[in-house]
Amino acid sequence: MSEQRAANGTAGAYQAHFRVWRGDADGGGLADFRVEVHEGEVVLDVIHRLQATQVPDLAVRWNCKAGKCGSCSAEINGRPRLMCMTRMSVFDRGETLTITPMRTFPVVRDLVTDVSFNYTKAREVPSFVPPEDLGPGEYRMSQEDVGRSQEFRKCIECFLCQNTCHVVRDFEDNKAVFAGPRFLMRVAELDMHPLDAAADSGLDRKRTAQEEHGLGYCNITKCCTEVCPESIRITDNALIPLKERAVDRKYDPLVWLGTRIRRRP
Ligand code: SF4
Ligand code: SF4
Ligand code: FES
Repeated sequence: MSEQRAANGTAGAYQAHFRVWRGDADGGGLADFRVEVHEGEVVLDVIHRLQATQVPDLAVRWNCKAGKCGSCSAEINGRPRLMCMTRMSVFDRGETLTITPMRTFPVVRDLVTDVSFNYTKAREVPSFVPPEDLGPGEYRMSQEDVGRSQEFRKCIECFLCQNTCHVVRDFEDNKAVFAGPRFLMRVAELDMHPLDAAADSGLDRKRTAQEEHGLGYCNITKCCTEVCPESIRITDNALIPLKERAVDRKYDPLVWLGTRIRRRP
């Protein structure tokens, strides 16, 4: 019937070949479909049409359809992307589109993965510590500092960077000791925040970045940055500066002396 509509002349409509992963935690495989595509549509529109016309039980997570909720993350022809922000016009009409769930996280069903790894990692990062001597409304920051954290605050928690980073994508065991780019970026943001008073309470964010969040596993390949739909320069602006500060701390002779003195019985 959908083919008939396309043939009947819905403006700019054509039939695309979609290959969609279907299954659950016990296994699954790719299933082939011919599905109608209209002018101006994104991949998520076509997945919705597939759901509405051929596979009503196809599981897919989405919410805003505007690139802001971070729910519709998947892999399109092997590249991690938001389905709602991927225009069909970037593909050739005759091209097969293979849609698979994010590979790094366990599959719940079809295109839906269990991303709770990320919530666990989020909880492991101690939050902003307000300065004791300032009340609400008294905080002052330079525009430069505001701009720096503003970039990181654009994060929509789509977890595409977490899914792409080879440290956890290829080595499941690393999940226990590596927070991933999104949460190392959070540590970096807090560490460079001029009003964060964590150090006053004995929390050294540079040390925890290394020892608790696995900063040393990151070898700055920038794959996380390449897939970020918000174009956040995760590696250049968060991870590399955090690594530099962590190294400075380790090799600063005064810091070294301090740790030696503190270790004495
Ligand atoms: S730059 Fe670091 S965090 Fe980003 S993908 Fe590479 S190893 Fe992972
Ligand atoms: S940093 Fe970018 S890719 Fe990573 S979760 Fe945030 S928005 Fe998504
Ligand atoms: S549906 Fe919200 S980001 Fe795609």
